[in-house]
Amino acid sequence: MTAETDRTASAEGSAAPASVASGEIKAPAVDAPPETQEVAWRHEHLLDVDGLTRGELELVMRTTDAMREVLSRPIPKVPALRGTNVTILFYEASTRTRVSFEVAAKNLSCDVVNIAASSSSVSKGESLVDTVRTIEALGAHMLVMRHPASGAPYLAAEVFGGSVLNGGDGWHGHPSQALLDLYTLRTTIPGGSLDGKKVVILGDSLHSRVARSNIWTLTAMGADLWICGPSTLLRGFEGWAARGAAGRRFTVTSDMGAALKDADVVMALRIQKERMSSGLLPSLREYAARYGLTQERLRAAKPDVIIMHPGPMNEGVEIAADVAVDPRSVITAQVTNGVAVRMAMLYLLAGIRRRGGKA
Ligand code: MLT
Repeated sequence: MTAETDRTASAEGSAAPASVASGEIKAPAVDAPPETQEVAWRHEHLLDVDGLTRGELELVMRTTDAMREVLSRPIPKVPALRGTNVTILFYEASTRTRVSFEVAAKNLSCDVVNIAASSSSVSKGESLVDTVRTIEALGAHMLVMRHPASGAPYLAAEVFGGSVLNGGDGWHGHPSQALLDLYTLRTTIPGGSLDGKKVVILGDSLHSRVARSNIWTLTAMGADLWICGPSTLLRGFEGWAARGAAGRRFTVTSDMGAALKDADVVMALRIQKERMSSGLLPSLREYAARYGLTQERLRAAKPDVIIMHPGPMNEGVEIAADVAVDPRSVITAQVTNGVAVRMAMLYLLAGIRRRGGKA
């Protein structure tokens, strides 16, 4: 089973609960515990975004709006998840994702434990399954994890009694990043609709879990999605696009001029050297010269193009320093929105757990 076939199957198999499909989506009152709220959320884990319907994505967006309101208060904290223990287990480096999950959990009054795999029994050879079982025995109700192996959070979800939130697994998925990207676009695009908007993901899609998760959310919301980069970094995407996985279509091209022409949004991706085998790129210098996002290249896009990057950035490689800080860049807003989106996800998942199962 490849990650791709797995995701296609689950996307096709998903059906929205009636209240979500009807379009009457109300944000929960997030000052109150989630089990007291009527919301049409049915997922126990956040492993990827492929199984989320448009209605469920709308619910996440509305819940994130409510969390943003909490964050605007003088004391940006609610007691909603008091008594919930969250463990954050990261087997890979991270700044944004790890810290924003921690801040999000604390803002909801969770108790938080952080484990860096390098300083835990993992370094003595403990297996992932044993580590997860130990974390549960120590009282965790929710587990946020990042792992270099695609699929690792799925394995953790099989053995962990609570909810697992995927903070990035190998090349496969980065669901909270895709949700915060969606939220950032929804709150930046005039009118808030992605329907028909040309969104370009530019760069190293091959190694990017951010690209793979964003494909699901952006196509679900009706964007005209383009994936662009050197052909060596697009392997597999053409086949995926041609099959129109779960009825969702996107364009794959190495022609940067065609991709950027009249684009509404450009999201540059980092060249992920740590995941790259040799021979895929002649050199970073050549990559920057041919595919780096510069002011000159951006002139092909719409004048009010929205510039994104999931971070961390390699300025001067995939994105020029002046593009990163251009007034049209929402890169800092992406980071800020990450806290509200992660609060929303912890809240929705905790509601399922506290009700003792699926809604
Ligand atoms: C990730 O963890 O995938 C990041 O958010 C993006 C990157 O590493 O380039």
